[in-house]
Amino acid sequence: PPPGPMGIDPLRSVAKEMKFMTGNIRQLLGSGHPMLDTVAKYYTQSEGKYIRPMLVLLMSQATALLPKMPRRWSQENVSADESITPSSILADENPSSPLTSDSANYADYSDPLILPSQRRLAEITELIHTASLLHDDVIDTSFSRRGNASANIAFGNKMAVLAGDFLLGRASAALARLRDPEVTELLATVIANLVEGEFMQLKNTSRDERHPVWHEDTVTYYLQKTYLKSASLISKSCRAAALLGDHPREVVEAAYQYGKNLGIAFQLVDDMLDYTISGSELGKPAGADLELGLATAPLLFAWRSNPELGALVGRKFSQEGDVQLARTLVIQSDGIEQTRALAQDYVDKAIRAIAGFPESDAKVGLIDMCSKVMKRRN
Ligand code: FPP
Ligand code: MG
Ligand code: MG
Repeated sequence: PPPGPMGIDPLRSVAKEMKFMTGNIRQLLGSGHPMLDTVAKYYTQSEGKYIRPMLVLLMSQATALLPKMPRRWSQENVSADESITPSSILADENPSSPLTSDSANYADYSDPLILPSQRRLAEITELIHTASLLHDDVIDTSFSRRGNASANIAFGNKMAVLAGDFLLGRASAALARLRDPEVTELLATVIANLVEGEFMQLKNTSRDERHPVWHEDTVTYYLQKTYLKSASLISKSCRAAALLGDHPREVVEAAYQYGKNLGIAFQLVDDMLDYTISGSELGKPAGADLELGLATAPLLFAWRSNPELGALVGRKFSQEGDVQLARTLVIQSDGIEQTRALAQDYVDKAIRAIAGFPESDAKVGLIDMCSKVMKRRN
């Protein structure tokens, strides 16, 4: 990565924080029930990309030096770290829990620019994300994730769904402990948005037709779904990071716009990689979207110049040969290139949103995340 204004790797400032993230998340996920404990922590064994917590930490640092404007309610005497660990969450119901360690102590390594509440928020975003993956792999009948068997395969659908619910419960409790009603409302809305996005995805277009005709609305519907499914979590957690930092509205809005545009770009690239990268490199099944009946951006763009794809979209690529024909038409069209170009537009918007932030390593880090999203291969 390019050196920041201080001549160091801009992501280095959060790298140390990230090293402790997994441990803290695993603490939040402790259960006295050994099997639930195992399933709930399963996706924390294979290290994810931690994109969402990384963005929260970078946003917290990048906004730290901006003016503060305390909000209406008082947050005095509220510390996120105070008795938030599973040991206290479980204290009443589960005194024999093996997790009796004290609350996370960041003193040795923590960046003073990041508030404890922002650090906790970063962990909460990863919990919500991981919960959605547990549910997603059941819905998509997936067999692998991050290079390993997915949880639904390793433990079965029932345990995977319940573990996802458990993660949401723990995320909600941690969120409540932040004692910030606006942040709580934002992240609760994210959970609802994830379900709304997933519901929209059950249908490829807004109209229920057997032979849909390409229309601008098709792309609008897809982008709305993409916001709900992927960008809502990223944008609202960036917004929440700025709120916890007590920043004025325009800073909060800039943080939100950054996350929203980066989040949409992230999913556009994801949908592109489904066509261009092998399953072994992705760590999850490739070419899965058509198999699942999903018409994502590359196909929607290919459809515009290949009207015959309408019938296939309408029957969700369910007839013999549909998936292969659709894949061929996508590859032959400029659908993949158009998807990449659209993702680049969103990334450019994300960078413009934070242009007014003071120069810092964290700001370089946020910009760096944009090029990382464009260049990623898994
Ligand atoms: C991955 O998409 C999945 C999501 C981004 C969100 C899934 C949301 C739900 C299942 C809603 C209910 C869940 C919760 C926790 C409220 P993908 O299938 O396109 O990506 P993949 O290739 O990584 O599987
Ligand atoms: Mg999936
Ligand atoms: Mg899915």
